[in-house]
Amino acid sequence: MKLVVIGAQWGDEGKGKIVDFLAEGADIILRYSGGANAGHTVVIQEQTFKLHLIPSGVITPDKKAVLGIGMAVDLENLFEELDGLEQSGISWKGRVFLSDRAHVVLPQYKELDRQKDAERRIPIGTTGRGIGITYALKAHRDGIRVADLFDPAVWQTFKREEKSFLEPYREKIRDMVVDVSGFVHQHRDKNILFEGAQGTLLDLDLGTYPFVSSGISCAAGAAIGGGIGPHSLDRVIGVFKAYSTRVGNGPFPSEFTEQRDGKLGDTIREIGREYGVTTGRPRRCGYLDLVALSYACRSNSIDGLCLIKLDVYDGMEEIKACTAYRIDGNEVVDFPATIEHLNKAQPVLKSFRGWKGEVKSCRSFDDLPSEAKDYIHFIEEYVETSVDIVSVGHNRSETIVRRNPWTQS
Ligand code: GDP
Ligand code: IMO
Ligand code: MG
Repeated sequence: MKLVVIGAQWGDEGKGKIVDFLAEGADIILRYSGGANAGHTVVIQEQTFKLHLIPSGVITPDKKAVLGIGMAVDLENLFEELDGLEQSGISWKGRVFLSDRAHVVLPQYKELDRQKDAERRIPIGTTGRGIGITYALKAHRDGIRVADLFDPAVWQTFKREEKSFLEPYREKIRDMVVDVSGFVHQHRDKNILFEGAQGTLLDLDLGTYPFVSSGISCAAGAAIGGGIGPHSLDRVIGVFKAYSTRVGNGPFPSEFTEQRDGKLGDTIREIGREYGVTTGRPRRCGYLDLVALSYACRSNSIDGLCLIKLDVYDGMEEIKACTAYRIDGNEVVDFPATIEHLNKAQPVLKSFRGWKGEVKSCRSFDDLPSEAKDYIHFIEEYVETSVDIVSVGHNRSETIVRRNPWTQS
């Protein structure tokens, strides 16, 4: 079976937690897009892992972890991360693989990325990891692929400083490099978990362009990153938070405002510890945006949803969610394409009763307070997609499974 986990908002939805949780049922975990701009967190009891390039499934012993075709790989970061795993007692040798078609991020791309962003009329607020530059060079057909490090004809075209940076990695990665399409074909009867990075609204085509990243973070990217056709993907799981967050610039219609919501933005940021894993930047926070979530469900053919951070709403008198946008006096329920419309959009908010006590210890849907269940039922009806998993804390164990994506039971 081939199962895809994607972000259904602006990234940082909790993909790392869910991929780690689902990794038990997988043989192979394959990251399919982005690079070290991503920051995926896995918490197992007292131990916290922050992964940028390596699939989150690597924490589970004996699973194979693949960096897929669509990725932009910073080799320096990759080995820092692998060394970090080793120091945390996770042995990775022989089970981490790297696509020969993945693109390589050179050190100078990072500086260029920061420079270009600073020169923009409205900066995107990139992570400065050289991602946009790497994908631009790829599209321009001037990029460097992993396979090129082993092709003498291409190697001799590299500049001296490029060769001196890349040379030490040739030996280090030699045994890790695979043809991912062939690898996935060879393991076609196994369970493969595709790990997305970023999120639908940061996707180059589906997102709030130009305030997006440069990879294919939507579900379709899993097929490309794994070197298979879209029909071969069996199920798509969309991960979303009980509220919304965004890092960097760009439209965010349901963002909390001090005028309307008082200190709610600061409160949620502190309770939810909403600070970027990669850059440490405070994340912008807002209400759950059901217009955007519907769009994500539709444009990725999401089969089941995974609701994260329900616990952050513990003890609130009232919870609200955005059910439409008001733009120029009209109510709109389709996610607009233009930044102008998204910036003008005022959220139409629906209120829900909050709950008393903590959901952290709940392990079945029935254990949840009735108000929390009402909130979830409304979301399911609105987006016409079932919420199959509910996360009630950052720990691996703090998870409620209503329907197991591997078995459907
Ligand atoms: P990703 O990029 O989608 O993998 O998400 P991040 O790791 O960037 O951000 C998600 C954050 O939420 C991490 O700090 C997680 O440890 C944390 N987290 C995940 N699930 C839950 C949850 O159910 N409740 C709380 N409070 N935190 C969670
Ligand atoms: P994960 O996988 C949240 C955002 C950046 C910036 C924009 C472009 O952890 O969910 P880039 O460096 O990619 O050119 O930046 O995209 N961004 C993310 N925001 N989570 C991520 O990844 C992100 N990856 C990029 O903040 O606004
Ligand atoms: Mg993240």
